[in-house]
Order: sequence, then structure tokens, then C-alpha cells
Amino acid sequence: MIICHCNRISVEEIEDVITGFLKEDPWQLIVPLQVYHALEKKGKCCGCLPNVVKIIVKTVETYHQKHNTPKAEIISLVDRINEKHQSCITARRLMRQKRRNVA
Ligand code: FES
Repeated sequence: MIICHCNRISVEEIEDVITGFLKEDPWQLIVPLQVYHALEKKGKCCGCLPNVVKIIVKTVETYHQKHNTPKAEIISLVDRINEKHQSCITARRLMRQKRRNVA
């Protein structure tokens, strides 16, 4: 299923990239920018980013469940991922406001 229509990226491609990151470091915080960079793509309209975040969270949870990571540690990691994404969204929003105020 295509998740990013601007770049024609499928859910499976994103899951594969995330799994590759997790094999390198299962505790890293993955953000959409890393995923797009690995796929040599750029966000255009960025309408897909909320769904990419959901895929990241789901893939991280599934990966750790398969590797028998204690549930409390999975919850902690997912919380940190969500916090990181929220801070990125806030920073992006502030940057857009700043650009609008300058123009
Ligand atoms: S839908 Fe992904 S950048 Fe537009």
C-alpha cells in the first residue's frame, strides 16, 4: 500500500528501513526524516508524516515484541519516540509561523 503519494513510497518500504535501523541499534529514536533520507526521498507536501510516525511506532513495537523486550521498556521507548515526534511537530509549526511573520 502506498503511504506517500508524492514519492510513491509503500508501507513495506518504510517498515523495511525502520527494521534495518533497529537491527543496527534497537534503542534509537527513529524520525520520518531519517526514513526518507535512507530512501533518498524528501518530504514534499508532508501530508504522509503522521502516518509514517504511526508506522514507526507500530514497527518498533512489533520488533521489540518479537525480541521479547520487556513490555515496560517497549512502552518507555514508544513514549520517547512520540515525545520526539511531538517536539519535531512543534518546531516545524514555530518555523512556519516565523516564516509567515517575516513575509
Ligand atoms: S504524501 Fe508524502 S510528501 Fe506528500
